Amino acid sequence: MTSALLAEIGDVGRDRTRGGYSRHVFDGAELELRTWFLAHARRLGLDTETDRNGNLWAWWGGQGPDAVVTGSHLDSVPGGGAFDGPLGVASALAAVRALRDRGAVPGRPLAVVVFAEEEGGRFGVPCLGSRLLTGAIGAEAARRLRDQDGRTFAEAAAGAGLDPDRIGADPGALGRIGRFVELHVEQGRGLVDLGSPVAVGSTVIAHGRWRFTFTGQGNHAGATLLRDRRDPMLPAAATVTAARELAAAAPDARATVGRIVPTPGGTNVIASTVRLWLDARVPDGSTHALVEEVAGAARVAAAAEGCTVDVREESASDTVTFDAGLRAELGGVLGGVPELATGAGHDAAILAPHVPAAMLYVRNPTGISHAPEEFAEPADVERGAAALADVLEHLCR
Ligand code: GLV
Ligand code: MN
Ligand code: MN
Repeated sequence: MTSALLAEIGDVGRDRTRGGYSRHVFDGAELELRTWFLAHARRLGLDTETDRNGNLWAWWGGQGPDAVVTGSHLDSVPGGGAFDGPLGVASALAAVRALRDRGAVPGRPLAVVVFAEEEGGRFGVPCLGSRLLTGAIGAEAARRLRDQDGRTFAEAAAGAGLDPDRIGADPGALGRIGRFVELHVEQGRGLVDLGSPVAVGSTVIAHGRWRFTFTGQGNHAGATLLRDRRDPMLPAAATVTAARELAAAAPDARATVGRIVPTPGGTNVIASTVRLWLDARVPDGSTHALVEEVAGAARVAAAAEGCTVDVREESASDTVTFDAGLRAELGGVLGGVPELATGAGHDAAILAPHVPAAMLYVRNPTGISHAPEEFAEPADVERGAAALADVLEHLCR
């Protein structure tokens, strides 16, 4: 059933330019997916609601407390794959259907949740819906976030029918969650190497995003002698290289510059400013130390070109270890599936400091994610949903 559900949304938000899917919070594609989710949830007899931060909930039984909650997200990165997020949502719907077909009667409330803006693809802060829910980001800071067109999160939320004044920490909604389990496509090749279709998540490594703004002097590409230039593209390029070299020198660290925006952006124009975004992740949690080293290299390169650089943190998360007791329960139900650490961030990791949380990963034979090649075999997709149904049935006893 899960593959059939994913097939239903196979044409929603396809990105004809980049390839893959571009589904960003509150855009046309993501709103269509929200409608799709709510229709399926209602067809399953679940009571649906949208919380004050734009997260969707579908309830089997009363709305908490001590609910078993599962779910994921429906937004994507620009040009992302079909599985990152929607697999967890479709599997949750399929698991509820399986439990109904088994005649299971949950002994406690069960909910499926769809978190808003997990990728931060539109407003820059990943897991925005779960961060707002838990208070990990303040309401005012979230309201002021802007997308690439200058529209604020408050404006976009209002456009989607939310009250921007009610955005923010939601202890009532958080307090309903007893335990949370998110199923997700694996985003590396860990399960391929282990020869297993499913794993239980162990840790999520510390990660964050920093915006570097280099400022120089916009000028003519032909008429300006090299010695007269203050070209911010040079320190930006040096920073890309420095990030890679500094990360390579730290144990298992990752540093990525996946987005760089020169202004004004003309082929025959020396840029006046260049903005780039650094995504840094370090298992031992020393992300800020790595970024400070990269920022140091950026300052040196900027000064050498007569430019300046401003560095701003946009988000940061510590390393998270999922609840040991819940992991053991999942391992017991699933008969000794392996445990797997990940370098990818998830809403489950945002919830983990507040409620027992855990994850299930489904094998991705390409080992590729955040790209159109992301994949899961249909047989593994169904195995994942069956594993989730078994876990939910056990936890709802
Ligand atoms: C989300 O997938 C992230 O780790 O960036
Ligand atoms: Mn992702
Ligand atoms: Mn995801």
